[in-house]
Amino acid sequence: MKQNERVFSGVQPTGNLHLGNYLGAIKRFVALQEEHECLYCVVDLHAITVWQDPESLAHNIREVAAAFIASGIDPAKQIIFNQSQVSGHAELAWIFNCVARMGWLNRMTQFKEKAGKHKENASVGLFSYPNLMAADILLYRATHVPVGADQKQHLELARDIAQKFNNDFASSIEKCGHEEGFFPLPKPLIAGPATRVMSLRNGAEKMSKSAPSDMTRINLTDDRDLIAKKIKKAKTDPEPLPSEEAGLADRPEAANLVGIYAALAEMPVSDVLAQHGGAGFGAFKPELIELAVQKLSPISEEMQKLMGEAGEIDAILIDGANRAREIADPVMARVKEIVGFIGK
Ligand code: TYM
Repeated sequence: MKQNERVFSGVQPTGNLHLGNYLGAIKRFVALQEEHECLYCVVDLHAITVWQDPESLAHNIREVAAAFIASGIDPAKQIIFNQSQVSGHAELAWIFNCVARMGWLNRMTQFKEKAGKHKENASVGLFSYPNLMAADILLYRATHVPVGADQKQHLELARDIAQKFNNDFASSIEKCGHEEGFFPLPKPLIAGPATRVMSLRNGAEKMSKSAPSDMTRINLTDDRDLIAKKIKKAKTDPEPLPSEEAGLADRPEAANLVGIYAALAEMPVSDVLAQHGGAGFGAFKPELIELAVQKLSPISEEMQKLMGEAGEIDAILIDGANRAREIADPVMARVKEIVGFIGK
């Protein structure tokens, strides 16, 4: 790891944690921990931008933490915590509310998708959500952010906010004796064969926590029978698999299943096709089921075990939050000084 490099990412505790969250994000968090200082956050403040039942929220916060740990993130080495325990997130988000421009937020496609036709009825928090996300990252002056493809636009906004803050306060940053470019411009890490896992029932839609049908996604809590059932019923087309990647171009469902296989097997899509090209789905699906069960069952079993020890998860989150605050507090103190607030 280079000096000053730091990884931050977050997952919302809104229930139905799925294969897309795992392959697009959590699995990659695990890989990064070997060579980086990482903070992995259960972003509960983000979750409440849409109404959450309080009891389910507490359960879902623990479940995301359990998924992190069961997937292999070491809470002794890296920081696992829930966002609401570190007040700096909300404080810095307010300052960023005053840095970001309405026009920037008006362009956010995720808000448009989530608010749908009922924009007037959406919470103000849902609109300003990307500012909080920028605060999450920059509160730790994190430089690298592993996410799925759907977060790319939010990451670009975080970079714009960092840049504008650095420009708007350039002379104060200098006067306070801090280095030019106080906030780093965080880099999105969006890579691998599963940056956008699609619904099992419709290759044009993203696999999502909020899709009404559970058959569209594989949840990290699904047992082997359910995993098998969902893959068996996954939508496909009648053609056999191609031997080359170009052959997947107009076949979104086939491309999705091959991408999932590649990510689970940790091999390039081209190798999957070299092995399975020519096979029909009748032959490929059982192989995918085998692989998915082999990779996911240990995680869901460990999650279940951890969820039986809520006290231990809570202790890990409290310890993580204490360590997160040690990094965040001095940054927040400097931000306040730069902005011109008085106090210690
Ligand atoms: P969230 O909770 O929706 O998703 C968590 C992570 O999973 C990725 N993801 C996917 N990847 C591939 N295929 C899919 N179908 C799929 N669905 C979700 C997401 O890209 C994400 O990486 N705004 C974020 C949470 C957040 C955050 C942050 C992330 C808040 N603050 C700071 C990074 C840094 C979100 O809603 O993720």
